[in-house]
Order: sequence, then C-alpha cells, then structure tokens
Amino acid sequence: MTIDPALVKSSFAIVEPHGADVAGYFYQHLFEHNPSVRGLFAEHLADQQDRLWAALGALVTHLEDTDTLVGILQGLGARHAAYGALPEHFPAVGASLLATLSHFAGPEAWTPEVEASWTAVYAVVADTMGQALTAAGPSS
Ligand code: HEM
Repeated sequence: MTIDPALVKSSFAIVEPHGADVAGYFYQHLFEHNPSVRGLFAEHLADQQDRLWAALGALVTHLEDTDTLVGILQGLGARHAAYGALPEHFPAVGASLLATLSHFAGPEAWTPEVEASWTAVYAVVADTMGQALTAAGPSS
C-alpha cells in the first residue's frame, strides 16, 4: 500500500479546522471501544488533546521528509514507554484515528484512496513508534 501525500494533506486540511471537536471525538471513540486504556491517561484531557493533534499536524507536515518524520516518531515512541503504552494498543488507536478522520472529512472527501493512504501512514507511525517504544522498555 502506498501513501499519496497530497491526499493525506488535503483530507487533513478538511478535518483540522474542526479543532478541539476532533480530539474530543477521537478520545470518546477510543475509550468507548477500549475502556481499559482510559486509566493510562490523565483525568483531564484538555492539554493532551492539543498535543496529540499538534503531533499529527507535524507528522502530516513532514510526510515527505523521511528523516524528520522518523525522528519525530522515534521520540514519541520512546516517550510513550513511560506512559504505559504498549505495541498492542496501536491498532485500537489507529482504528479510532481513522474513524475520527472519516467522520470529520465526510463521505465525499473520505474516498477509498484517502482511507488507503491514511491506513498506510498509520502503519508507518505504529511501526516506528512501536519499535522505539519497545527499545525504550517499560519504565517503572
Ligand atoms: C498516532 C499515534 C500517537 C500519537 C501521534 C501520540 C501523540 C501523543 C503526544 C503528542 C502526547 C503528549 C506527550 C508527548 O509529546 O510525549 C501523548 C501522550 C500520551 N499518549 Fe500518545 N500518541 C499516539 C499513540 C498512543 C497510543 C497507542 C497510546 C496507548 C494507549 C498512547 C497513550 C498516551 C498516553 C497515556 C499519554 C500521556 C497522557 C497523559 O499525560 O495523560 N498514545 N501522545
């Protein structure tokens, strides 16, 4: 599966103006489908919501700059070891992320090609973050 950077950027540009609603929808979806991960997150999610979506924006911006992208993902992955995140959490987060993007992009913009590109992007994200997370090991 290949990534079409133009499709990823144009679909993200439709979703991004929805601001905090996007992050709110994402966490609601994630916790509704995976109640067990709720305890990993702080009780008040406001700051965290901004950081996650800022990180996604940075990933989209650097999509074609592999060195920068891999550096961001390795840093994120290593820090996630301390948050109690596990490689097996990544599919759940990916499913909620895609559900959120599809919801806010709307049926016309969320074409099969857009979905395939985002699926491929998330595979790179989960793989690179997951490796850095495992290398960093569980922190006590
Ligand atoms: C697309 C993949 C992901 C991205 C872009 C992402 C992004 C972020 C960012 C930017 C932060 C803020 C702190 C920092 O920069 O280190 C954060 C914190 C956190 N992330 Fe992620 N994350 C991802 C996947 C995951 C997964 C799979 C889990 C596992 C459930 C997870 C759990 C957490 C937790 C527990 C925190 C700390 C929240 C708190 O302080 O309450 N993240 N994440």
